[in-house]
Amino acid sequence: MKTSALARNPFNDQYKIGTPFDLDDEPAYQSWVEEKMDNYPQHIEDIIVEVANPADLSTAEIARITQLCKKTNMVIYAGNTGTDDDKEIPTRLGRQFKLYLADNNRGADDGITALRVVNDEWRSEYIPYTNHLIHWHTDGYYNAMNYQIRALLLHCVQPASSGGENALLDHEIAYIHLRQKNPAYIRALMAADAMTIPANINKQGEIIRPERCGPVFSVDADGKLHMRYTARTRSIIWKDDDITRQAVKQLADFLASDSPYIFRGTLQSGQGLISNNVLHDRSAFEETGDTRRLLYRLRYFQRIAAT
Ligand SMILES: [Fe+2]
Repeated sequence: MKTSALARNPFNDQYKIGTPFDLDDEPAYQSWVEEKMDNYPQHIEDIIVEVANPADLSTAEIARITQLCKKTNMVIYAGNTGTDDDKEIPTRLGRQFKLYLADNNRGADDGITALRVVNDEWRSEYIPYTNHLIHWHTDGYYNAMNYQIRALLLHCVQPASSGGENALLDHEIAYIHLRQKNPAYIRALMAADAMTIPANINKQGEIIRPERCGPVFSVDADGKLHMRYTARTRSIIWKDDDITRQAVKQLADFLASDSPYIFRGTLQSGQGLISNNVLHDRSAFEETGDTRRLLYRLRYFQRIAAT
């Protein structure tokens, strides 16, 4: 097979050898899948871990969350902090899994962010600060390849009066689904030019973010699978070939299905999601009276420790 220089992904080429994500190593993949799917949870209740104080977990709670995240790349923690809006709660939770925030600035788009409906100048242009639905994605898919978001933490202070539900899917399950359908889909989505996000240019014509091109699936230096994805159809350019189109369609169909591996739930006060940046969406929501939805979002360049 002829592979163009552009389609090769230096990250993947360098790191995937010896991992289950090497398409040329079927035995490594098969034994990984066997272990991965053994006892894989199929209900959201199975990934909820009750904790006493999220800011100061017990050794047993840390062990339980780590063990589950190893399997599913995500856990819903349910703590007792209610509507306490102290940002230290999720910050300290993260630290217990060796997740450390980078400098918080808008350009790098990382750090801790209060997600709520805001009507100010620049935020109202971004869907996360509205009550609209957000399609399936992983966080920071538009970041440069060396600033990818490996872990994502969402902490709920106050849910909406209605709506605001998240759907969640382990990106490794998405990989397995596509590879079982056709390994060529994986090859297409691992190409370095699979998915391009056009430059973000504001009304004044300033470039906020340059064009970013990269693979959907890639393998980290530590041999872990990483995924960049957005289901949005505007402001995204997929590689213009048949196999990429088919792969993207298969993935979209899977995300729109009622697969038992897609978990759905609405975070309640004191609950949060800790994840290795799994696929997620958010339904639209309504706010009534004094009920204002507030979630904290923390993004990290590291993965959850020991997962
Ligand atoms: Fe997100």
